[in-house]
Amino acid sequence: MKSILVTGATGLLGTTLVPHLKSCGYHVVTHARSGRADLLADLDNRSSAFELMEQAKPDIIINLVGLTSVEQCQEQPNAAYLANTLTVENLVLWILKTGTASHLVQISTDQVYDGMAVHTEDQVTLTNNYAFSKYAGELAAAHVPSTILRTNFIGRSKVSNRESITDWVFTSLRDGKQIQVLRDVFFSPLSMATLAGMIQLVIEKNPLGIFNLGSHNGMSKADFDFAFAEYLELPTSTMSRIYSSEAHFLKAYRPKDMRMDCSRFEETFGIKLPDLKDEIRLVAREYHDIT
Ligand SMILES: NC(=O)c1ccc[n+]([C@@H]2O[C@H](COP(=O)([O-])OP(=O)(O)OC[C@H]3O[C@@H](n4cnc5c(N)ncnc54)[C@H](OP(=O)(O)O)[C@@H]3O)[C@@H](O)[C@H]2O)c1
Repeated sequence: MKSILVTGATGLLGTTLVPHLKSCGYHVVTHARSGRADLLADLDNRSSAFELMEQAKPDIIINLVGLTSVEQCQEQPNAAYLANTLTVENLVLWILKTGTASHLVQISTDQVYDGMAVHTEDQVTLTNNYAFSKYAGELAAAHVPSTILRTNFIGRSKVSNRESITDWVFTSLRDGKQIQVLRDVFFSPLSMATLAGMIQLVIEKNPLGIFNLGSHNGMSKADFDFAFAEYLELPTSTMSRIYSSEAHFLKAYRPKDMRMDCSRFEETFGIKLPDLKDEIRLVAREYHDIT
């Protein structure tokens, strides 16, 4: 059986992905910088990263390490470089140095796109430090046999100090808090549950290259938030639609359109990815026990 190392396993995606892979019978070793994981290492430190890889010697690395705060990446470009680029470089350097036949699955982001379109993989437009640092991570990953997945995801967080978008909308509307949602920012995420299943397909086939991985019929963040609220029958009187030019609480630029054309992924795996509306319905069910 293939040995799988999930780096950054204690975050938002890792805490859905790891139980999924384990329940399917995979042997998974988990990594994080701190907290509850099988192996701990700071991957922006080269010798710690090499030590981790020597211990794990994985057939497959699923790299979820990252600094995902767009605001923090903008304010601290070097922190973005360390977390989103150097960590990948260190994993890649170990593979190159040792000649180990490890396959790298690098989780990247839909933030590498902008401009009104449903983007194919070659239509990159980099507009903030988060996107730059993740794209540089992709370039590093491409030096070894790798699958680079550009994605975005939704779902209920299983990490106590980590709030997802749907957690924020859910809690705000439930508590009657005023929130503003963006009518001119479009995306096409998958639920974390679906994404975990797709990553499982990837580690079985290990295709090389860059793949968009999202849902069909992406929508604006505002439409998404209202649809989510509707499935949960949450009151929406405290939620208002605004343009991003009015969103003074956002300091860093956000791409206006991150929707992805996922035909390359669908053709490679012979599957049809779900519609975003169905993914929202799936995610809404994750909150039913607290409504
Ligand atoms: N969240 C999203 O909406 C989103 C959307 C698109 C793509 N992505 C990408 O998906 C991946 C997973 O995102 P996520 O939201 O699950 O991330 P997350 O919740 O922020 O978790 C990040 C993980 O990386 C670890 N980590 C961070 N810096 C590290 C370092 N220098 N050395 C070792 N470990 C380090 C963290 O461990 P500690 O907590 O111990 O530091 C944690 O386990 C990321 O690559 C992200 O760019 C995320």
